[in-house]
Amino acid sequence: MTPSQARSYLSSPAPEKFKRPSMFPITQAEMVRDPVAGMVHADWSFKDDSTTELTHGIHPYPARMVPRIARKVLESVPSPGSSVWDPFCGSGTVLLEAMTHGFPSQGTDLNPFACLLARAKTQRTKSAELRRWTELIVARVRGSSADAARRAYRPNLDDFTLDVERWWGPAVIRDLGFLRRQLDEVESLGSSRSSKDLLDVAFARTVRRTSFQRQNQFKRYRISDDRAKGHKPDVISDFLRNWTMVVGLSNELSSGYRSAPAPQISCADCSTFTPDQQVDLVLTSPPYGDSTTTVAYGQFSSLMMEWMPSLNSDWRAIDKTCVGGNPERPRSRSKSETLATVLQSIQARDPNRAKVVEGFFGDMQWCLQRFYDAVTPNGHLCIVIGDRTVREVTVPNSQILREDAENVGFHHVETFSRRIFFKVGAYRVNPVGRSGRDVDSPAIGKEEVVLLSKG
Ligand SMILES: C[S@@+](CC[C@H](N)C(=O)[O-])C[C@H]1O[C@@H](n2cnc3c(N)ncnc32)[C@H](O)[C@@H]1O
Repeated sequence: MTPSQARSYLSSPAPEKFKRPSMFPITQAEMVRDPVAGMVHADWSFKDDSTTELTHGIHPYPARMVPRIARKVLESVPSPGSSVWDPFCGSGTVLLEAMTHGFPSQGTDLNPFACLLARAKTQRTKSAELRRWTELIVARVRGSSADAARRAYRPNLDDFTLDVERWWGPAVIRDLGFLRRQLDEVESLGSSRSSKDLLDVAFARTVRRTSFQRQNQFKRYRISDDRAKGHKPDVISDFLRNWTMVVGLSNELSSGYRSAPAPQISCADCSTFTPDQQVDLVLTSPPYGDSTTTVAYGQFSSLMMEWMPSLNSDWRAIDKTCVGGNPERPRSRSKSETLATVLQSIQARDPNRAKVVEGFFGDMQWCLQRFYDAVTPNGHLCIVIGDRTVREVTVPNSQILREDAENVGFHHVETFSRRIFFKVGAYRVNPVGRSGRDVDSPAIGKEEVVLLSKG
Protein backbone atom coordinates (compact mmCIF):
# COMPACT_ATOMS: atom_id res chain seq x y z
CA MET A 1 0.00 0.00 0.00
CA THR A 2 1.41 3.41 -0.95
CA PRO A 3 1.18 6.32 1.54
CA SER A 4 -1.56 7.97 -0.51
CA GLN A 5 -3.49 4.70 -0.60
CA ALA A 6 -2.94 4.39 3.15
CA ARG A 7 -4.25 7.93 3.67
CA SER A 8 -7.32 7.37 1.55
CA TYR A 9 -7.89 4.02 3.29
CA LEU A 10 -7.86 5.87 6.60
CA SER A 11 -10.08 8.75 5.58
CA SER A 12 -12.76 6.84 3.68
CA PRO A 13 -15.39 4.53 5.14
CA ALA A 14 -14.40 0.89 4.70
CA PRO A 15 -15.81 -0.65 1.52
CA GLU A 16 -18.34 -3.41 2.15
CA LYS A 17 -15.89 -6.25 1.56
CA PHE A 18 -13.31 -4.71 3.97
CA LYS A 19 -15.86 -4.04 6.69
CA ARG A 20 -14.08 -4.16 10.03
CA PRO A 21 -15.56 -6.84 12.30
CA SER A 22 -17.50 -5.48 15.24
CA MET A 23 -16.66 -6.51 18.78
CA PHE A 24 -18.68 -9.53 19.91
CA PRO A 25 -20.48 -10.19 16.62
CA ILE A 26 -22.06 -13.25 18.22
CA THR A 27 -25.39 -12.79 19.99
CA GLN A 28 -26.19 -14.33 23.37
CA ALA A 29 -28.76 -16.58 21.67
CA GLU A 30 -25.96 -18.11 19.66
CA MET A 31 -23.92 -19.00 22.72
CA VAL A 32 -25.10 -22.58 22.83
CA ARG A 33 -24.83 -23.77 19.26
CA ASP A 34 -23.21 -26.12 16.88
CA PRO A 35 -19.89 -24.65 15.76
CA VAL A 36 -20.02 -26.62 12.53
CA ALA A 37 -23.26 -24.93 11.47
CA GLY A 38 -21.44 -21.64 10.97
CA MET A 39 -18.63 -23.27 8.99
CA VAL A 40 -20.21 -25.96 6.89
CA HIS A 41 -21.86 -23.77 4.25
CA ALA A 42 -19.02 -21.27 4.07
CA ASP A 43 -17.10 -20.62 0.87
CA TRP A 44 -13.61 -21.09 2.27
CA SER A 45 -11.76 -19.91 -0.82
CA PHE A 46 -12.00 -16.19 0.14
CA LYS A 47 -10.69 -15.62 -3.35
CA ASP A 48 -11.54 -11.94 -3.65
CA ASP A 49 -10.98 -10.97 -0.04
CA SER A 50 -8.20 -8.71 1.08
CA THR A 51 -5.37 -10.27 3.09
CA THR A 52 -4.00 -6.87 4.09
CA GLU A 53 -6.96 -5.12 5.76
CA LEU A 54 -6.57 -3.63 9.27
CA THR A 55 -2.86 -4.04 10.12
CA HIS A 56 -2.61 -7.51 8.53
CA GLY A 57 -0.42 -6.20 5.71
CA ILE A 58 2.01 -4.24 7.86
CA HIS A 59 4.95 -6.44 6.77
CA PRO A 60 5.33 -9.63 4.68
CA TYR A 61 5.75 -12.94 6.51
CA PRO A 62 5.87 -16.41 4.94
CA ALA A 63 2.84 -18.72 5.08
CA ARG A 64 0.56 -16.16 6.73
CA MET A 65 -2.91 -17.44 7.51
CA VAL A 66 -5.68 -15.90 5.42
CA PRO A 67 -7.37 -13.53 7.91
CA ARG A 68 -10.83 -14.56 6.76
CA ILE A 69 -10.16 -18.16 7.79
CA ALA A 70 -9.35 -17.08 11.33
CA ARG A 71 -12.40 -14.80 11.28
CA LYS A 72 -14.74 -17.55 10.11
CA VAL A 73 -13.54 -19.91 12.84
CA LEU A 74 -13.76 -17.19 15.52
CA GLU A 75 -17.28 -16.31 14.44
CA SER A 76 -18.37 -19.97 14.54
CA VAL A 77 -16.58 -21.84 17.32
CA PRO A 78 -15.92 -19.89 20.56
CA SER A 79 -18.57 -18.22 22.74
CA PRO A 80 -18.25 -14.59 23.84
CA GLY A 81 -15.51 -14.23 26.44
CA SER A 82 -13.70 -17.39 25.31
CA SER A 83 -9.93 -17.30 25.28
CA VAL A 84 -7.75 -18.18 22.30
CA TRP A 85 -4.14 -19.39 21.97
CA ASP A 86 -2.20 -19.46 18.71
CA PRO A 87 0.91 -21.51 19.57
CA PHE A 88 2.53 -20.90 16.14
CA CYS A 89 1.38 -17.29 15.92
CA GLY A 90 3.90 -16.07 13.31
CA SER A 91 3.08 -12.51 12.34
CA GLY A 92 -0.11 -12.49 14.46
CA THR A 93 -3.03 -13.02 12.05
CA VAL A 94 -5.11 -15.02 14.55
CA LEU A 95 -4.23 -12.63 17.38
CA LEU A 96 -5.37 -9.56 15.44
CA GLU A 97 -8.62 -11.26 14.46
CA ALA A 98 -9.19 -12.46 18.05
CA MET A 99 -8.57 -8.95 19.35
CA THR A 100 -10.95 -7.27 16.92
CA HIS A 101 -13.62 -9.85 17.80
CA GLY A 102 -13.22 -9.21 21.53
CA PHE A 103 -11.54 -12.50 22.50
CA PRO A 104 -8.61 -12.44 24.95
CA SER A 105 -5.73 -14.22 23.25
CA GLN A 106 -2.18 -15.42 23.63
CA GLY A 107 0.41 -16.08 20.98
CA THR A 108 3.73 -17.89 21.02
CA ASP A 109 6.41 -18.05 18.36
CA LEU A 110 10.07 -18.78 18.69
CA ASN A 111 11.05 -16.36 15.94
CA PRO A 112 11.69 -12.94 17.57
CA PHE A 113 11.06 -11.17 14.26
CA ALA A 114 7.61 -12.81 14.00
CA CYS A 115 6.86 -11.73 17.58
CA LEU A 116 7.84 -8.15 16.69
CA LEU A 117 5.37 -8.19 13.78
CA ALA A 118 2.63 -9.74 15.93
CA ARG A 119 3.10 -7.06 18.60
CA ALA A 120 3.19 -4.23 16.06
CA LYS A 121 -0.02 -5.52 14.45
CA THR A 122 -1.97 -5.69 17.67
CA GLN A 123 -0.63 -3.08 20.09
CA ARG A 124 -2.39 0.17 20.73
CA THR A 125 -0.19 3.15 20.03
CA LYS A 126 0.06 6.59 21.57
CA SER A 127 -0.68 8.91 18.65
CA ALA A 128 0.80 12.01 20.40
CA GLU A 129 4.11 10.19 20.87
CA LEU A 130 4.09 9.00 17.26
CA ARG A 131 3.51 12.58 16.04
CA ARG A 132 6.42 13.82 18.15
CA TRP A 133 8.66 11.01 16.89
CA THR A 134 7.73 11.80 13.30
CA GLU A 135 8.87 15.41 13.76
CA LEU A 136 12.11 14.29 15.40
CA ILE A 137 12.85 11.73 12.70
CA VAL A 138 12.16 14.11 9.82
CA ALA A 139 14.40 16.75 11.43
CA ARG A 140 17.20 14.19 11.70
CA VAL A 141 17.04 12.66 8.23
CA ARG A 142 15.79 15.46 5.94
CA GLY A 143 17.45 18.76 5.01
CA SER A 144 20.90 19.81 3.86
CA SER A 145 22.79 19.27 7.12
CA ALA A 146 21.22 15.79 7.53
CA ASP A 147 22.19 15.01 3.93
CA ALA A 148 25.79 16.04 4.58
CA ALA A 149 25.94 13.95 7.79
CA ARG A 150 24.47 10.97 5.97
CA ARG A 151 26.99 11.19 3.11
CA ALA A 152 29.86 11.37 5.57
CA TYR A 153 28.56 8.45 7.65
CA ARG A 154 30.78 5.35 7.97
CA PRO A 155 28.75 2.43 9.39
CA ASN A 156 30.41 -0.14 11.61
CA LEU A 157 29.78 -3.55 10.03
CA ASP A 158 31.75 -5.65 12.53
CA ASP A 159 28.70 -7.34 14.04
CA PHE A 160 27.16 -8.46 10.76
CA THR A 161 27.23 -12.20 10.12
CA LEU A 162 26.03 -12.10 6.49
CA ASP A 163 28.11 -10.81 3.61
CA VAL A 164 26.60 -7.29 3.75
CA GLU A 165 27.94 -6.22 0.35
CA ARG A 166 26.24 -9.15 -1.31
CA TRP A 167 22.85 -7.99 -0.06
CA TRP A 168 22.98 -4.18 -0.25
CA GLY A 169 24.82 -1.65 -2.41
CA PRO A 170 27.49 0.58 -0.74
CA ALA A 171 25.32 3.74 -0.64
CA VAL A 172 22.39 1.78 0.76
CA ILE A 173 24.58 0.26 3.50
CA ARG A 174 25.78 3.74 4.45
CA ASP A 175 22.23 5.16 4.48
CA LEU A 176 20.74 2.22 6.41
CA GLY A 177 23.52 2.59 9.00
CA PHE A 178 22.89 6.34 9.28
CA LEU A 179 19.12 5.81 9.54
CA ARG A 180 19.46 3.05 12.16
CA ARG A 181 21.64 5.37 14.25
CA GLN A 182 19.05 8.18 14.08
CA LEU A 183 16.21 5.81 14.96
CA ASP A 184 18.13 4.39 17.93
CA GLU A 185 18.58 7.92 19.26
CA VAL A 186 14.88 8.75 18.79
CA GLU A 187 13.89 5.44 20.41
CA SER A 188 16.06 6.22 23.43
CA LEU A 189 13.94 9.35 24.08
CA GLY A 190 10.72 7.38 24.57
CA SER A 191 9.59 4.61 26.81
CA SER A 192 6.71 3.19 24.80
CA ARG A 193 7.35 -0.31 23.50
CA SER A 194 4.57 -0.01 20.93
CA SER A 195 6.17 3.05 19.28
CA LYS A 196 9.55 1.30 19.18
CA ASP A 197 7.98 -1.76 17.60
CA LEU A 198 6.35 0.33 14.89
CA LEU A 199 9.61 2.11 14.18
CA ASP A 200 11.37 -1.25 13.89
CA VAL A 201 8.72 -2.60 11.51
CA ALA A 202 8.94 0.46 9.24
CA PHE A 203 12.74 0.11 9.26
CA ALA A 204 12.50 -3.64 8.56
CA ARG A 205 10.37 -2.91 5.50
CA THR A 206 13.06 -0.56 4.22
CA VAL A 207 15.84 -3.05 4.91
CA ARG A 208 14.08 -5.69 2.82
CA ARG A 209 12.91 -3.38 0.05
CA THR A 210 16.30 -1.73 -0.47
CA SER A 211 18.19 -5.05 -0.51
CA PHE A 212 19.09 -7.23 -3.48
CA GLN A 213 16.55 -9.77 -2.25
CA ARG A 214 13.97 -10.95 -4.79
CA GLN A 215 10.88 -9.30 -3.38
CA ASN A 216 8.56 -12.05 -4.57
CA GLN A 217 10.49 -14.80 -2.74
CA PHE A 218 10.55 -15.67 0.94
CA LYS A 219 13.75 -17.70 0.68
CA ARG A 220 16.90 -15.55 0.63
CA TYR A 221 17.39 -15.30 -3.08
CA ARG A 222 19.38 -12.51 -4.75
CA ILE A 223 18.41 -10.65 -7.92
CA SER A 224 20.80 -11.01 -10.87
CA ASP A 225 24.05 -9.00 -10.95
CA ASP A 226 22.66 -6.97 -13.87
CA ARG A 227 19.54 -5.99 -11.96
CA ALA A 228 21.61 -5.31 -8.84
CA LYS A 229 23.69 -2.75 -10.79
CA GLY A 230 20.58 -0.73 -11.57
CA HIS A 231 19.04 -1.05 -8.09
CA LYS A 232 19.60 2.33 -6.43
CA PRO A 233 16.76 2.88 -3.96
CA ASP A 234 16.36 6.05 -1.90
CA VAL A 235 16.58 4.65 1.64
CA ILE A 236 15.34 7.74 3.47
CA SER A 237 12.29 8.30 1.25
CA ASP A 238 11.42 4.63 1.42
CA PHE A 239 11.60 4.65 5.21
CA LEU A 240 9.46 7.79 5.55
CA ARG A 241 6.81 6.24 3.30
CA ASN A 242 6.82 3.05 5.36
CA TRP A 243 6.64 5.00 8.61
CA THR A 244 3.66 7.04 7.36
CA MET A 245 1.84 3.89 6.33
CA VAL A 246 2.59 1.92 9.48
CA VAL A 247 1.63 4.81 11.77
CA GLY A 248 -1.58 5.48 9.83
CA LEU A 249 -2.76 1.88 9.99
CA SER A 250 -1.82 1.51 13.63
CA ASN A 251 -3.58 4.75 14.66
CA GLU A 252 -6.69 3.59 12.89
CA LEU A 253 -6.61 0.26 14.71
CA SER A 254 -5.98 1.96 18.06
CA SER A 255 -8.91 4.33 17.69
CA GLY A 256 -11.28 1.70 16.26
CA TYR A 257 -10.60 -0.96 18.88
CA ARG A 258 -9.73 1.09 21.96
CA SER A 259 -11.29 -1.35 24.42
CA ALA A 260 -10.38 -4.59 22.63
CA PRO A 261 -8.36 -7.03 24.74
CA ALA A 262 -4.65 -6.84 23.85
CA PRO A 263 -3.09 -10.23 23.02
CA GLN A 264 -0.22 -11.49 25.16
CA ILE A 265 2.69 -12.44 22.94
CA SER A 266 5.56 -14.62 24.17
CA CYS A 267 8.67 -15.34 22.20
CA ALA A 268 8.72 -18.98 23.23
CA ASP A 269 8.80 -22.57 22.05
CA CYS A 270 5.18 -23.72 22.18
CA SER A 271 6.21 -27.30 22.87
CA THR A 272 7.38 -26.27 26.34
CA PHE A 273 4.98 -23.37 26.94
CA THR A 274 2.05 -23.48 29.34
CA PRO A 275 -0.55 -20.69 29.15
CA ASP A 276 -1.36 -19.02 32.50
CA GLN A 277 -4.87 -20.46 32.33
CA GLN A 278 -6.54 -23.08 30.17
CA VAL A 279 -7.86 -21.69 26.88
CA ASP A 280 -11.16 -22.40 25.08
CA LEU A 281 -9.73 -22.53 21.59
CA VAL A 282 -6.33 -23.32 20.12
CA LEU A 283 -6.43 -21.92 16.58
CA THR A 284 -3.24 -22.20 14.58
CA SER A 285 -1.49 -22.87 11.29
CA PRO A 286 1.65 -24.90 12.08
CA PRO A 287 4.62 -25.26 9.78
CA TYR A 288 3.88 -28.05 7.32
CA GLY A 289 7.30 -29.66 7.61
CA ASP A 290 10.74 -28.93 9.00
CA SER A 291 11.96 -25.42 8.22
CA THR A 292 14.96 -26.46 6.15
CA THR A 293 12.95 -28.18 3.44
CA THR A 294 9.71 -26.18 3.56
CA VAL A 295 9.58 -22.55 4.68
CA ALA A 296 12.72 -21.24 6.38
CA TYR A 297 11.35 -18.65 8.81
CA GLY A 298 14.79 -17.83 10.22
CA GLN A 299 16.29 -17.39 6.78
CA PHE A 300 13.40 -15.11 5.77
CA SER A 301 14.01 -12.97 8.86
CA SER A 302 17.80 -12.86 8.45
CA LEU A 303 18.17 -9.67 6.36
CA MET A 304 16.03 -7.67 8.78
CA MET A 305 17.50 -9.22 11.93
CA GLU A 306 21.07 -8.43 10.83
CA TRP A 307 20.14 -4.74 11.13
CA MET A 308 18.21 -5.14 14.38
CA PRO A 309 20.64 -6.09 17.16
CA SER A 310 17.97 -5.04 19.67
CA LEU A 311 16.14 -8.30 18.89
CA ASN A 312 19.16 -9.87 20.53
CA SER A 313 18.86 -13.14 18.72
CA ASP A 314 20.74 -15.31 16.26
CA TRP A 315 18.50 -15.87 13.22
CA ARG A 316 20.49 -19.02 12.37
CA ALA A 317 19.17 -20.77 15.48
CA ILE A 318 15.49 -20.28 14.53
CA ASP A 319 15.11 -22.93 11.84
CA LYS A 320 16.99 -25.48 13.94
CA THR A 321 14.64 -24.99 16.90
CA CYS A 322 11.39 -24.93 14.90
CA VAL A 323 9.33 -28.14 15.01
CA GLY A 324 11.21 -30.87 13.13
CA GLY A 325 14.45 -28.83 13.22
CA ASN A 326 16.47 -31.61 14.81
CA PRO A 327 15.52 -35.02 13.32
CA GLU A 328 18.02 -36.73 15.64
CA ARG A 329 15.95 -35.81 18.67
CA PRO A 330 12.22 -35.67 18.04
CA ARG A 331 10.45 -35.00 21.33
CA SER A 332 7.92 -37.76 20.80
CA ARG A 333 6.81 -40.36 18.24
CA SER A 334 3.78 -40.10 16.00
CA LYS A 335 1.32 -43.02 16.22
CA SER A 336 -0.51 -42.11 12.99
CA GLU A 337 -1.14 -45.10 10.73
CA THR A 338 -1.31 -42.85 7.70
CA LEU A 339 2.17 -41.55 8.51
CA ALA A 340 3.52 -45.09 8.85
CA THR A 341 2.38 -45.87 5.28
CA VAL A 342 3.72 -42.59 3.91
CA LEU A 343 7.09 -43.13 5.61
CA GLN A 344 7.46 -46.53 3.96
CA SER A 345 7.13 -44.93 0.52
CA ILE A 346 9.57 -42.11 1.31
CA GLN A 347 11.99 -44.56 2.97
CA ALA A 348 12.17 -46.55 -0.25
CA ARG A 349 13.28 -43.42 -2.13
CA ASP A 350 15.33 -41.56 0.46
CA PRO A 351 15.85 -42.88 4.02
CA ASN A 352 17.28 -39.57 5.25
CA ARG A 353 14.23 -37.63 4.17
CA ALA A 354 11.99 -40.23 5.81
CA LYS A 355 13.82 -39.58 9.08
CA VAL A 356 13.30 -35.81 8.76
CA VAL A 357 9.57 -36.23 8.10
CA GLU A 358 9.24 -38.63 11.04
CA GLY A 359 11.08 -36.15 13.29
CA PHE A 360 8.71 -33.35 12.32
CA PHE A 361 5.61 -35.36 13.22
CA GLY A 362 7.28 -36.56 16.43
CA ASP A 363 7.67 -32.94 17.52
CA MET A 364 4.11 -32.15 16.43
CA GLN A 365 2.78 -35.08 18.46
CA TRP A 366 4.49 -33.59 21.49
CA CYS A 367 2.94 -30.17 20.75
CA LEU A 368 -0.54 -31.71 20.34
CA GLN A 369 -0.27 -33.17 23.83
CA ARG A 370 0.57 -29.68 25.15
CA PHE A 371 -2.44 -28.25 23.32
CA TYR A 372 -4.69 -30.95 24.80
CA ASP A 373 -3.49 -30.07 28.31
CA ALA A 374 -3.99 -26.36 27.62
CA VAL A 375 -7.59 -26.61 26.37
CA THR A 376 -10.64 -26.43 28.69
CA PRO A 377 -12.81 -29.60 28.95
CA ASN A 378 -15.30 -28.39 26.29
CA GLY A 379 -12.73 -26.51 24.25
CA HIS A 380 -11.60 -26.91 20.64
CA LEU A 381 -8.47 -27.27 18.56
CA CYS A 382 -8.52 -25.93 15.01
CA ILE A 383 -5.56 -26.58 12.70
CA VAL A 384 -5.17 -24.95 9.29
CA ILE A 385 -2.65 -26.82 7.15
CA GLY A 386 -1.97 -27.96 3.59
CA ASP A 387 -0.50 -31.23 2.40
CA ARG A 388 2.98 -31.40 0.92
CA THR A 389 5.06 -33.72 -1.23
CA VAL A 390 8.39 -35.26 -0.28
CA ARG A 391 10.31 -37.09 -3.00
CA GLU A 392 7.05 -37.08 -4.98
CA VAL A 393 5.17 -38.82 -2.17
CA THR A 394 2.14 -36.90 -0.89
CA VAL A 395 2.28 -36.26 2.84
CA PRO A 396 -1.33 -35.65 3.95
CA ASN A 397 -0.47 -33.31 6.84
CA SER A 398 -4.07 -32.67 7.83
CA GLN A 399 -4.95 -36.38 8.07
CA ILE A 400 -1.78 -37.25 10.01
CA LEU A 401 -2.26 -34.39 12.48
CA ARG A 402 -5.92 -35.30 12.87
CA GLU A 403 -4.97 -38.90 13.77
CA ASP A 404 -2.31 -37.73 16.21
CA ALA A 405 -4.71 -35.21 17.79
CA GLU A 406 -7.17 -38.09 18.25
CA ASN A 407 -4.36 -40.18 19.73
CA VAL A 408 -3.84 -37.58 22.49
CA GLY A 409 -7.59 -37.44 23.26
CA PHE A 410 -9.25 -34.92 20.89
CA HIS A 411 -12.39 -35.89 18.94
CA HIS A 412 -12.62 -35.05 15.28
CA VAL A 413 -15.56 -32.73 14.52
CA GLU A 414 -15.14 -31.86 10.83
CA THR A 415 -12.53 -31.11 8.20
CA PHE A 416 -13.17 -28.32 5.70
CA SER A 417 -11.20 -28.22 2.49
CA ARG A 418 -10.38 -24.98 0.71
CA ARG A 419 -8.74 -24.04 -2.55
CA ILE A 420 -5.69 -21.83 -2.36
CA PHE A 421 -5.09 -18.98 -4.75
CA PHE A 422 -1.42 -18.16 -4.44
CA LYS A 423 -0.49 -14.57 -3.89
CA VAL A 424 3.00 -13.38 -3.06
CA GLY A 425 3.20 -12.21 0.52
CA ALA A 426 -0.20 -13.57 1.30
CA TYR A 427 0.18 -17.10 2.50
CA ARG A 428 1.66 -20.41 1.51
CA VAL A 429 3.85 -19.93 -1.53
CA ASN A 430 5.85 -22.53 -3.35
CA PRO A 431 9.07 -22.53 -1.37
CA VAL A 432 11.33 -24.10 -3.99
CA GLY A 433 14.84 -22.77 -3.45
CA ARG A 434 17.50 -21.64 -5.83
CA SER A 435 18.83 -25.05 -6.69
CA GLY A 436 15.49 -26.81 -6.48
CA ARG A 437 17.34 -29.62 -4.69
CA ASP A 438 16.31 -30.93 -1.31
CA VAL A 439 13.33 -28.64 -1.16
CA ASP A 440 9.86 -30.05 -1.47
CA SER A 441 6.76 -28.22 -2.36
CA PRO A 442 3.32 -28.07 -0.84
CA ALA A 443 0.64 -30.02 -2.65
CA ILE A 444 -0.45 -26.83 -4.36
CA GLY A 445 -4.03 -25.84 -4.53
CA LYS A 446 -5.75 -26.76 -1.31
CA GLU A 447 -5.48 -26.70 2.42
CA GLU A 448 -7.62 -28.06 5.22
CA VAL A 449 -9.25 -26.56 8.27
CA VAL A 450 -9.41 -29.41 10.81
CA LEU A 451 -11.75 -28.87 13.75
CA LEU A 452 -11.44 -31.10 16.85
CA SER A 453 -13.02 -30.91 20.28
CA LYS A 454 -11.85 -32.04 23.68
CA GLY A 455 -15.26 -32.71 25.21
C1 LIG B 1 2.87 -21.17 9.24
S1 LIG B 1 3.75 -20.07 10.25
C2 LIG B 1 2.48 -19.24 11.12
C3 LIG B 1 2.00 -18.03 10.36
C4 LIG B 1 0.93 -17.28 11.09
N1 LIG B 1 -0.30 -18.02 11.16
C5 LIG B 1 0.67 -15.94 10.41
O1 LIG B 1 -0.43 -15.70 9.93
O2 LIG B 1 1.63 -15.16 10.29
C6 LIG B 1 4.44 -21.13 11.46
C7 LIG B 1 5.21 -20.44 12.58
O3 LIG B 1 5.57 -21.42 13.55
C8 LIG B 1 6.74 -20.97 14.20
N2 LIG B 1 7.29 -22.13 14.94
C9 LIG B 1 7.84 -23.27 14.46
N3 LIG B 1 8.15 -24.09 15.46
C10 LIG B 1 7.76 -23.49 16.62
C11 LIG B 1 7.78 -23.86 17.99
N4 LIG B 1 8.28 -25.03 18.39
N5 LIG B 1 7.28 -22.98 18.90
C12 LIG B 1 6.77 -21.78 18.51
N6 LIG B 1 6.73 -21.38 17.21
C13 LIG B 1 7.21 -22.22 16.28
C14 LIG B 1 7.59 -20.42 13.06
O4 LIG B 1 8.57 -19.52 13.54
C15 LIG B 1 6.50 -19.75 12.20
O5 LIG B 1 6.42 -18.37 12.52
